[in-house]
Amino acid sequence: MAERPASAPAVPRHVAIVMDGNGRWAKKRHMPRFFGHKQGVDALVRTVHACADRGIEYLTVFAFSSENWKRPSEEVSSLMGLVLVAVSKYLAKLAGDGVRVRIVGDRAQVSDKLRQAWQHAEDSTRHNTKIHLSVAFNYGGRWDIVQACRQAMVAGVKPEDLDEATLNSYMALSYAPDPDLFIRTGGEVRISNFLLWQAAYSELVFTECLWPEFGTEELDSALAQYARRERRFGAVPAAAELVASGS
Ligand code: FPP
Repeated sequence: MAERPASAPAVPRHVAIVMDGNGRWAKKRHMPRFFGHKQGVDALVRTVHACADRGIEYLTVFAFSSENWKRPSEEVSSLMGLVLVAVSKYLAKLAGDGVRVRIVGDRAQVSDKLRQAWQHAEDSTRHNTKIHLSVAFNYGGRWDIVQACRQAMVAGVKPEDLDEATLNSYMALSYAPDPDLFIRTGGEVRISNFLLWQAAYSELVFTECLWPEFGTEELDSALAQYARRERRFGAVPAAAELVASGS
């Protein structure tokens, strides 16, 4: 095997995942789509633990996009209900295992009940540091850029003072480094409005694996692909390490 280039640390600090393929997984089993989403929650919990075990510090997952409201209303409401069930079923264990949970996205459109559940998840894991799990819910990359611009304007940032670092401080994931590795399951090869700003230099890995089947083998395969990549951040190879280290 080729030696890992020095510009790609063996383990990414931040992994982002588009968890796609729940519906197809269920359809293959002649089950309703909801069943696939339910299994998808279990796959997510497994993945959080697997990432933490591998020293990944940040995991950000796309659970519900700004565009997912266009799905049939029964599927939308079942997804909302599933989140409430998932919070009550898994939160205590995640909290006990040192997972810090954050929700990123527009909370204005979700029900009070869901907003309270999110708040509870965030409050009860606030002091955890093992791994930061960010759940993107009612999130879109374009929404994120617009809301960051709005916040900057409200804060009175002058056009001449607006640079990338300043705008980034208003983005939904301002507390996290940019994702090093961006994984999409389910066979589609697109970004679908996830982390448009933050994924500018992410390494992309697409897999046919449907999300409910995602496990340690798939994760390790994506991590191995990442470790073989040479990250340049737009620079020539020798300079890339300096860019990556921020010096
Ligand atoms: C894409 O599969 C998946 C989603 C739109 C939902 C993902 C949500 C979860 C895994 C549950 C998250 C729950 C919590 C608690 C955060 P799809 O329905 O588009 O599948 P398809 O492409 O096969 O139709």
